[in-house]
Formats: sequence, structure tokens, C-alpha cells
Amino acid sequence: MARPYHIFTYKKAALGAGGRPCTIIAHRGASACYPENTLASFKGAIIQDADMAEMDVQLTADGEVVVFHDAKISRCTNGRGRLKTHTLAQLKQLDAGGWFHERFSGEKIPTLAEVLRMCRGRIAVNIEIKADAVTDAVRGGIEEKCLKMVELYGMCGHAVFSSFDPRAVLHIRQINPRAPVAVLFDKKNDDGRPPSEIVAALGADSFNCSRLELTGKRLADLKEHNIPVNVYSVNDEENMKKLIARGVDGIFTDRPDVLRRVLEDF
Ligand code: G3P
Ligand code: CA
Repeated sequence: MARPYHIFTYKKAALGAGGRPCTIIAHRGASACYPENTLASFKGAIIQDADMAEMDVQLTADGEVVVFHDAKISRCTNGRGRLKTHTLAQLKQLDAGGWFHERFSGEKIPTLAEVLRMCRGRIAVNIEIKADAVTDAVRGGIEEKCLKMVELYGMCGHAVFSSFDPRAVLHIRQINPRAPVAVLFDKKNDDGRPPSEIVAALGADSFNCSRLELTGKRLADLKEHNIPVNVYSVNDEENMKKLIARGVDGIFTDRPDVLRRVLEDF
């Protein structure tokens, strides 16, 4: 299937090595300048001219899809305990911005619906399904809820799903064979297989990994099989330039403004 992320963007992506588009993916929003995974951070990604906003999704105790990275709420809110033991109403009482800077006090943990409402028509989205929310059930879980939400907000052509949990990748594929989905490389699921085999086994479209995991051997295998590769999380110009020169298809960054500048000068 081999669908690179730039085809989901609302505008023409900037060109990298060999004139190939390189997608600017705002990691948890523009998270170096705004509290991660909040509406402020996704608005920041739009302001900083990212092509796509990456976000992490989980389920609340009452089955709502919220955008939040950690299993525990203490790092990024003024609450304590595990996210999945809180209802949406309880989570909405928390401050998800003050930990980052007092001027963001009052920011809330957003629902996926709230984020999609902000992003629709402005910025494509990469919805990363956190393993904590995934079960063996194909239907009725977080995967189906996310797919329905994306459809409801008319973002089917502008949304990509991803997960470290291979079950979530398979479930997305099984529920909607046309929904674009990326494998997030995880050493413990790898079994020493080349990326092309991992991607093929799950019926995925692209391969996402960390900068240090993108070895020459893995990149050669991905290129040979024409599989798009997106790399996280790169915030410094030097490594951005190196990855662009190596021909990656997209870069996740907390500083989309920096990556935009680097790509424009490339
Ligand atoms: O999707 C890329 C990246 O977000 C995966 O790692 O821990 O930031 O969710 P993490
Ligand atoms: Ca993520």
C-alpha cells in the first residue's frame, strides 16, 4: 500500500532530499513551546506550520477517548493515579497546563473529538493508540472509537493511525482496510525481522521508529520495499538535516518551526 504521510496533509509538504516531500509532524503538538497533547499545543502546531499533529490516545474509566501520553496523570496534570481509573468528568477537573508554565494554567486534557474539531481543515493528524488501552477484542475498543470519530469529523483523508501494540495495527486494518496505519517499531515485537516483514505481517502502510533505531540496514530494507519511514523525535537542526539527507519521509519533532526552517533552506 505504501502511503507516505504527506498525502494526508492539507497543503503541499516541503521537499527534502532528492525533491521528495518530508512531512513535518508535530510531536504531541508543538510540545517544546506548549504543554504536550493539549489544545494549546495543537493550536501551536498549526501556528508553527506543521503538516501533521501527532497525539496519544487512551480510554477513560467511562470509555471516552482522551488525548494524553502517560499511563499515570501526575507528570502532566495536578492529579495523581492512573488515567484509566478516572472518568472524563474527573479528568476535566484537572489542570493539564500549569506544570509546563503558569500561563497555561487551566488547560484541560482534551478529548479526541475536541482535538479533531480544532485540526479539521487545518492540519492532518497521527493518532497513536497507547498500548494501555488496547485489548484482544477487534470491535468495540479504542480502535473502533477512533475510526468512528475520524469519520464523524470528516478527516478520513487526513488521519493516520499508529501503535506500538501490533494488535491495534491489526484491528484498525481489520475494521477498515482503507484506513492508513503505521507500525511503531518496538524491539520486543521485532524478533530480528527486517522492517519490511514487520510491516507486511500487519498489513501496515508505513514504518515509524526512533532516530537511533533507523540503522543503515533498516533504511536500505525500507527503501528496497518502497515503504515510507517516519522518525521520532528530532529537535535539533543537525540531526534533522542528516535525516532529511538520508531520505526519510517524515520527522516527528517538538519544534515544527525549526524543522520548517531547515526544510525551506535544504
Ligand atoms: O509516534 C512517535 C512517538 O510519539 C512515539 O513515542 O513515547 O512519544 O509516544 P512516544
Ligand atoms: Ca506518541
